[in-house]
Amino acid sequence: MSSLRSLFLSQVGQTNERPIMLEVSHAEGIYIYGSDGKRYIDLNSGIAVSSLGHCHPRVVRAIRDQSTRYMHTMVYGEHIQAPQVEYARLLLSLVDRHFESIYYLMSGTEATELAMKMAKKYTGRYEIIACRNAYHGSTQGAESLRSDEDYKAAYRPLLPGIRHIDFNNEEDFGRITKRTACVICEVIQGEAGVISAGKQYLRGLSDQCREKGVLLIIDEIQSGFGRTGSLFAHQQYDIIPDILLIGKAMGGGMPIAGVVSSNEIMKSISIQPALGHITTFGGHPVSVSAALAALQTILEEKIIESVEHKAAFIADTLTRHPIIKEVRHAGLLMAVETTKKKYLKHIVHASYEKGVLIDWFLFNNRSFRLAPPLIITMEEIKEACAILLEAFDYAEQQYK
Ligand SMILES: Cc1ncc(COP(=O)(O)O)c(C=O)c1O
Repeated sequence: MSSLRSLFLSQVGQTNERPIMLEVSHAEGIYIYGSDGKRYIDLNSGIAVSSLGHCHPRVVRAIRDQSTRYMHTMVYGEHIQAPQVEYARLLLSLVDRHFESIYYLMSGTEATELAMKMAKKYTGRYEIIACRNAYHGSTQGAESLRSDEDYKAAYRPLLPGIRHIDFNNEEDFGRITKRTACVICEVIQGEAGVISAGKQYLRGLSDQCREKGVLLIIDEIQSGFGRTGSLFAHQQYDIIPDILLIGKAMGGGMPIAGVVSSNEIMKSISIQPALGHITTFGGHPVSVSAALAALQTILEEKIIESVEHKAAFIADTLTRHPIIKEVRHAGLLMAVETTKKKYLKHIVHASYEKGVLIDWFLFNNRSFRLAPPLIITMEEIKEACAILLEAFDYAEQQYK
């Protein structure tokens, strides 16, 4: 074992006992290169982050330019920094008029935290409703929203006042009451294995919230920035959320997230008391410049237009294999479900050996995750699918 590998295991905090251990040399486009020279096709995009591929030249240029101009100058919200203002103007021109401002943060879970705080302050209520099998982040507030009791037990006491409803089940609407501050919900449950909300369900949920004075928070941290075939997934539904959470692909590979809402809701954290939420590095000018370049690239290079076609080709190719039960997808946010869960570990392992990176979901052990960079070409898709089909054959052979 090289010293870098052993030091990684002994001195860098781990999240599980068997990390992938890919020693990264560099990354470009859809490829990550190992320090042993091996090339991997990244079909995860670092969990739906590198939608423009790795080290997109426009994003890299924006980072270089901004970092020579200025980096951190003051904690968030005090200085006027042009990248923040320009990004806000562009983003807000692309979403419903109801969205009037953005609060910049560093990670998705922080966006969840802020949205929960805003909803409590704005409504004067404290109950929060989340959907079972949702994932909104790993800090204690966001963790409180998880439904999986086995997972949460070790961290109790968590936030009081959290209630759960079944995703896509209108019968649970009765749990939303005049005590509820907000409902937080994904449009497509990513970690549950890509489960899309029904159109009627989300419309009904939105109506329930309006009727009862409850804020609807839509978490598009994973589904945003073109991944599902529109800039944001909720734009394919007939709803206007009160608060929108964004992150992951937003920064083109740099850490940044945001809470988007009306000015009225946003104001709730700047008065009585002021400084309702503060962050030193939120909206870091280098990250926002990267985000601006990423968003401009998505729009100018019409990246979203080909998403559905690419996704349909992948789904169609992979479902033909006998050990694949179905491919669920919302654009290029995809879950490939096997006929038996025992196949999964062999597929993930064989794909890795053959140079294709795929991944697991948090709450679905029958499916693996595909979230390729949106810039992947049809040629690259064909190459990646051929390797996946070989991995399926290998998994099937293990039980013959
Ligand atoms: C839907 C959703 N919300 C929130 C988060 C948390 O984001 P972060 O890991 O940036 O804190 C994630 C991360 O996977 C996510 O998929």
